[in-house]
Amino acid sequence: MCGIVGCVGLPQSRRFVIAGLQTLDYRGYDSAGVAFGNGDIKIFKEAGSVDFLDSTIPPSVEGRVAIGHTRWATHGKPNKNNSHPHLSSGKQFAIVHNGVIDNYLELRSRLLEDGVSFSTDTDTEVIVNLIEFHFRKTGDVLKAIASTMREIEGSYAVGLIHLGEDRIYVMKNASPLLMGVGKDFHLLASDASPMIEYTNLFVELDDKEYGYIEKEGYRVFDFDGNPVEKQRVTKEAELLRHTLNGYDHYMMKEIEEIEPVIRRMTNYYCLDEGFSFDPELISKLRESDHIIFLGCGTSYHASLVGGRYFEEMGIPTASYIASEWAFHPMFPGKKPFVILISQSGETADLIHCLKEVKERGFETLIITNTKGSTLERACTYSLLLHAGVEVSVASTKAYVAQVVALLFLVAAVFDLEYVKKDLDKACRVIAHIHKRYKDNVKEIAEAIKNEGDIFYLGRGYDYYMSLEASLKLKEISYIHSEAIAGGELKHGPIALIEEGTPVVVFVTDKLTAASMRGNIKEVESRGAKVYVISTSELSKNGDAIVVEDYPSYLSSIIISSIAFYLAYYVACLKGYNVDKPRNLAKSVTVE
Ligand code: M6R
Repeated sequence: MCGIVGCVGLPQSRRFVIAGLQTLDYRGYDSAGVAFGNGDIKIFKEAGSVDFLDSTIPPSVEGRVAIGHTRWATHGKPNKNNSHPHLSSGKQFAIVHNGVIDNYLELRSRLLEDGVSFSTDTDTEVIVNLIEFHFRKTGDVLKAIASTMREIEGSYAVGLIHLGEDRIYVMKNASPLLMGVGKDFHLLASDASPMIEYTNLFVELDDKEYGYIEKEGYRVFDFDGNPVEKQRVTKEAELLRHTLNGYDHYMMKEIEEIEPVIRRMTNYYCLDEGFSFDPELISKLRESDHIIFLGCGTSYHASLVGGRYFEEMGIPTASYIASEWAFHPMFPGKKPFVILISQSGETADLIHCLKEVKERGFETLIITNTKGSTLERACTYSLLLHAGVEVSVASTKAYVAQVVALLFLVAAVFDLEYVKKDLDKACRVIAHIHKRYKDNVKEIAEAIKNEGDIFYLGRGYDYYMSLEASLKLKEISYIHSEAIAGGELKHGPIALIEEGTPVVVFVTDKLTAASMRGNIKEVESRGAKVYVISTSELSKNGDAIVVEDYPSYLSSIIISSIAFYLAYYVACLKGYNVDKPRNLAKSVTVE
């Protein structure tokens, strides 16, 4: 789970690779490195951030070719030695790699027997040495790559420099890789965002393809070595830019983009009458007797809300954590339809699930924010969030966009015209929260910032909100937190409540509000310090935050801003790196 970049023919190669890695560091930020080629190969790499790496490179360094890498460690500690780029043992090749080579130990032993030496703990070093091994026999880099691809098993997006050549060789399987097409220059990167300032024309490599870029052009070959004519695609610059726009952190900026994102989605998906989805998709959903949702983390939480939307209209659903389902696939019903949800479209657990679904011949819909991502290209149907790039590791606007997308989908399947009006109302309430409630949330953040355990309580939609609020808090503030369904309290978790235990409670669902008030009494009488977030008609004196009324089914869309602010302020008060929490990465491409 890493990011790679490369360029040939750019006069300011250093600027491109460094800025590119900064843009891609959402994919991992343990260490970073670059290699410049001017006939020779010069490598600079460091443990730590791209900024730190940049500060160690002499100002005059440029390359006719350059490759770069930002790492989320899988094999080997995140130290300087294990950072990419890696040189082959004969120093003929330098490589950057995103992915995991499953059979690297076996290949490594074989290469060791052949006298190849290794200096890192990484699986990547096996690829570069295998390429060099085959190159020694044939003297042809493309043939060496093709032979290597036949031997390695696993995922890879690779950029490779060969000593003395002004080319970057590429190879791809199950990790994303795009080439950027320019006049007198060509680029590569894990996604389009580092390249968008230079070109809006891209070539998306498919699995098991390889080739190269050079100043004047590029070539792509399939697994059998046949040349492939690739279609060029254009991408919208506005949705790919990474800029803070005056905010201190991307997370805050992205929370505050929630309302414009809903409005943008409404423009995309709502017509004067009806909704603009593929009619074939809508018929498939209408015909299905069971909808299976698959997602991880926040996306799984969005699937719970979406599942409830469909169930309320009479279609049974089941939401599964993708990493669990992948090893125990279940297909309830006679005509199930599978919906995968993934902001990045690259999550390895979901890619595993998709394989299982495809093997059984079922069709799939992916709901994603990333056009051209692995899942977007591999599923039968895709529904794009149009939320703009989400940089902060903590998913905020993408979560809300996922729920909104699911809501539009249900509305399209069941002709629910009222949804458009309700969402307009939701936008107004969210705008009001963004304008007026930050100080109230900050007060709660101040009160809970030094706690060791925090509980979130809710029922129904409020329970789904609790799950998401709790994940967000633990992810960026490193405070242990747990979401509990109100009714489950008495079945165990209430034993954890003692004098002063902080409990955040959502009371926004008419159906369950009275029971939740009962639960509040139960925890209060055991000493809990309770912070209630409620809606006006369900509110009581002493509630911490009271939001104006809206239809309950919109809770996850509206109240999430409060939950996200709370996590954000706690993390800021604790002095943590909000956008890049420890041990995590934005795109989780390992199982
Ligand atoms: O890209 P995906 O939506 O598939 O990612 C799934 C999870 O890794 C992700 O939602 C994660 O839980 C977030 N960092 C939570 O904020």
